[in-house]
Amino acid sequence: MRPLVFVNVAASVDGRITDWSRKQIRISCEEDMKRVDSLRAESDAVLVGIGTVLSDNPSLTIKSSELREIRTKAGKSPNPLRIVLDSKARTPLNAKVLSKDAKTLIVVSEAAEEERVEELRRRVEVAVLGKEKVDLNLLMKYLWKRGIERLMVEGGGKVISSFLREGLVDYLYVYIGGVVFGEGVSLAEGRIFPHAKLELLDVRKLGKGVLSEWKVLKVEEACNEQQS
Ligand SMILES: NC(=O)c1ccc[n+]([C@@H]2O[C@H](COP(=O)([O-])OP(=O)(O)OC[C@H]3O[C@@H](n4cnc5c(N)ncnc54)[C@H](OP(=O)(O)O)[C@@H]3O)[C@@H](O)[C@H]2O)c1
Repeated sequence: MRPLVFVNVAASVDGRITDWSRKQIRISCEEDMKRVDSLRAESDAVLVGIGTVLSDNPSLTIKSSELREIRTKAGKSPNPLRIVLDSKARTPLNAKVLSKDAKTLIVVSEAAEEERVEELRRRVEVAVLGKEKVDLNLLMKYLWKRGIERLMVEGGGKVISSFLREGLVDYLYVYIGGVVFGEGVSLAEGRIFPHAKLELLDVRKLGKGVLSEWKVLKVEEACNEQQS
């Protein structure tokens, strides 16, 4: 058993989630930001890679006080658990994900320096899962045991690629904003083979861009599609 996993990401028309500066660039619109806030509110945990923490320093909390209140009334914590994939324990001690606004799990691997791991452990929960990189299959088991049933993966490109490669994504939501970068980090960074196959569930205009919702096909489903 593992949590339901969905990826949510905003991309340019040429499929990039940021440009060559690797800085956070606003691709989505106000309406989309509200949708993303609702998705976070419906999740038990939100996850990013250390690349995103180092370049964007996101807080990964729910912006709307109403949504936080709804969660609290339902007996949940105001914010979902924040998870960072950080094999070498590089999360800066002043990173916003370590703030007291929400609980945080930093997932490191055996490659992390013990001293750094201890520094992080004094502040938040730390799990050691994997030899070099974080082992995503072990992580799924860990999260399931910890009661995480809905996991929102917010990026960046390398993390999305790894989740797709391991066959661990159920749904992919892509907001395409009206911009072309020509160069930058792509939605999925790194080879995925067998290719991830998707089925379009819905597409609609949102603000000045377009939101597409995809189901990620299981290997068997993708094979059947090819044969028919
Ligand atoms: N438009 C959007 O919606 C959006 C959303 C999020 C991010 N972004 C952008 O994405 C960029 C960052 O993307 P990125 O690809 O450079 O970094 P990333 O995917 O955020 O983080 C990748 C890093 O995570 C660590 N990691 C640990 N275990 C891993 C595993 N099993 N699989 C993959 N990574 C693992 C690795 O570093 P270690 O080896 O050191 O652990 C890896 O280099 C930023 O520029 C940010 O602005 C855009």
